[in-house]
Parts: sequence; structure tokens; C-alpha cells
Amino acid sequence: MKGKFITFEGGEGTGKSTQIKLLAEYLKQKGKDVVTTKEPGGTEVGQDIRKLLVCGDKDKFDALAEALLYFADRHVHMVQKVWPEMEKGAWVLSDRFADSTMAYQYYGYNKRLSKEIINELYKIAVGDFKPDLTIVLDIDPKIGLERSFNKAKNMDVKELRFEGRELEFHNNMRQGFLEIAKAEPRRCVVLDADKTIDELHGDIVRVINERLGL
Ligand SMILES: Nc1ncnc2c1ncn2[C@@H]1O[C@H](COP(=O)(O)OP(=O)(O)O)[C@@H](O)[C@H]1O
Ligand SMILES: [Mg+2]
Repeated sequence: MKGKFITFEGGEGTGKSTQIKLLAEYLKQKGKDVVTTKEPGGTEVGQDIRKLLVCGDKDKFDALAEALLYFADRHVHMVQKVWPEMEKGAWVLSDRFADSTMAYQYYGYNKRLSKEIINELYKIAVGDFKPDLTIVLDIDPKIGLERSFNKAKNMDVKELRFEGRELEFHNNMRQGFLEIAKAEPRRCVVLDADKTIDELHGDIVRVINERLGL
């Protein structure tokens, strides 16, 4: 495909949304056609799936049901948005993708759901396709969660279903992201997110230039 697919991963409050906005501006200045999107909820139907996943009681369904909903959202997202935009040559920046499902529904829940099931669902929903680059933002969950809760104070719709989980869940999924990145070093780069917004943006721009050569 002509365009690129760059995914941002990491726990709550690591700065994904903030950094995607800044990177989109940077890439547009460089003359790229840029589309920013997110999972879950990158499409119209995905918005409804997102509400099911990120709002409400944390124990309303289990890891398998969550994974199935995430992959339903993801499949629609790829078919309706990511692939068509890439076909047109756009650089598509996604706030979360499949590594989040592995990190949350496998590592976060202490491996109650098997890795194989998640990999199998990936094949069914997405096929052989992989992101060109994945930026994993890493921070101590205590700091990330505090940022997230502060941000939520100013929002009407509280998307805090996962923030409400115990610290152990967040520490597990942080380790999960690091393991995923270690296993796929050509696709993934881990960046220390405990920095100012501008410093981290600088690191991301450097990685983009090194890996994708603007
Ligand atoms: N480097 C940073 N230092 C301090 N606060 C930050 C930083 N990056 C983001 N924030 C703030 O933390 C909150 C969560 O950031 P956000 O980009 O929404 O994270 P995410 O999308 O990963 O959950 C926001 O209020 C944002 O302004
Ligand atoms: Mg966000």
C-alpha cells in the first residue's frame, strides 16, 4: 500500500492522544497527507463499540468478550478507514491498535485469556497486515493514571472503565507492552514518556525520521 500505518501504544495517560496531534501537525508541515484515528471508535459503528468497552462497570464482561469486541471494532476500522486511506497514500496515525488488546486482555488480566486466542482473532480480523511502525509510550502507571484522572475531571463522558482497575493490572500490561516491543524490535520502539510534552515530541520525530525516512 502507498501510505503508512503508525500506531501509538501504551497505558492510560502516557500521552498518546497528545503526541498524535503533535505528530500529525509535524507530518502535515512535511507535506504528508495525514489521517488521525483511534481504537476503539475510529468509525461510526466503532463509536458505539467504544462506549461498551470504555464506559461502565469494570466487571460487566470478561476478557474474551472484550477481545471479541475490540476485534470487531478493529476489523471495521481497517476495512472502512485505515486501508482505504492508506491506499490513497495517507499516513494513518492510530491511537492504539492490536498491541493494546494483547497488553490489556492478556497481560493485564494475568494471562487468563490465551495469547493464541488473541493472535488467532488478529488473523481473522486483520490478516497478515502489520503497522509500519509502533511507538510504545512507557511510564510508571501511577503517573499515567494520575494524568488520566485529572483529564477526566474536565470531560462529560467518563471513559474510565480501565482506569478503575487495580494497579497490578496496569503494571502487568505495562510489562506486556515492553515484552511485545522486545519481541518485535523492527516494528516497535519504546520511548520513555516521563518527559515534557515537547521533549517527547522531539523523540518521536527523531524515531519517525530514523525509521521511515522523511
Ligand atoms: N508529557 C506530559 N507531561 C505532563 N502531562 C502530560 C504529558 N503528556 C500528556 N499530558 C497530559 O496528561 C493527560 C493524558 O494525556 P493523553 O495524551 O490524553 O494520554 P493518553 O491518550 O495516552 O491516555 C492530558 O491531560 C495531557 O494534557
Ligand atoms: Mg488518549
